[in-house]
Amino acid sequence: MSSELRLRVSEAADLTPAVRRFVLRDPDGGALPAYEPGAHVVVTVPAGHKRGYSLVEPGGARPREYVVCVRRDDAGRGGSASMHRDVTMGTELVVSAPANGFPLEPSPRYLFIAGGIGITPIRAMVRRLRAGGRTGVRLLYLTRSAAETPFLNEFGGPEDTVHHSDGHGPLDLWPHLAVPDDDVRVYCCGPAPLMRAVRTLTAHWRASRIHMEEFTAAGTGMSLPFTAVWAPDGRRVPVPAHLSLLAALRRAGVRVDSSCEAGVCGTCRLTVLDGEVDHRDAVSTEKERLGSMVACVSRAGSPEIVVGPYENEEPV
Ligand code: FES
Repeated sequence: MSSELRLRVSEAADLTPAVRRFVLRDPDGGALPAYEPGAHVVVTVPAGHKRGYSLVEPGGARPREYVVCVRRDDAGRGGSASMHRDVTMGTELVVSAPANGFPLEPSPRYLFIAGGIGITPIRAMVRRLRAGGRTGVRLLYLTRSAAETPFLNEFGGPEDTVHHSDGHGPLDLWPHLAVPDDDVRVYCCGPAPLMRAVRTLTAHWRASRIHMEEFTAAGTGMSLPFTAVWAPDGRRVPVPAHLSLLAALRRAGVRVDSSCEAGVCGTCRLTVLDGEVDHRDAVSTEKERLGSMVACVSRAGSPEIVVGPYENEEPV
């Protein structure tokens, strides 16, 4: 279980009309827990929701601050709206220590594909790699318009393609992905349609070369129906493709606690007694993945799965 920090917002400023940058620091000025590019923190927003936000700076051993960017989603469940409405300079927030479900692996070359606010973890990676003047770090950054593009002025180099769909339509990714290359790692973060497109267009690549940031249920790949068996009473719960395991269990009358409902806090973790799991969260450790799953985003990897309440067996 990651520890929680109480951090103070020392800067809050709009990068675009919908994206605000927040700088979080220890109120006493101390160093913060280490992190590497691709890491995220879970912030308890003033309205009470827990939300995972990628850290946009490259990090290191003793960072003095965590920087997150939050895109306001008025159609969302209130987390981003609360960050925009309720958080100002001086606000104190409960923030988890960083966790990293999207680590930057060594590679001779890279192709980064960022869609919209998906630039946040990718900016940290690109900045880390380019800090020493390194080349072979290509970026495709896809947004709707220049006005809606955070960090636009940072990505004008010879290895950067910044594409705005307004007036130009979507970028054709195929020329960038047609030829698989074991010397290239592809990292992609963005909205679900972009993630699906990249998955499809890299189906002929070695799977280990493709890295996708999958924070939310909406950002995951194809979902198939399965059956969950609730171990305490043997209840059989169909989980259709459009419903999460969490939602299906609740509809069937099973009580499961949740908070973020985006795979970043671990509140909805269940014990897995039988069956395969398609883990889609960003919070579980390797050990936790062996015998449990988070019900809000992860799915069965087999037609049937047997689950029950989670009991943390870690010694206290
Ligand atoms: S509710 Fe946060 S991981 Fe499921």
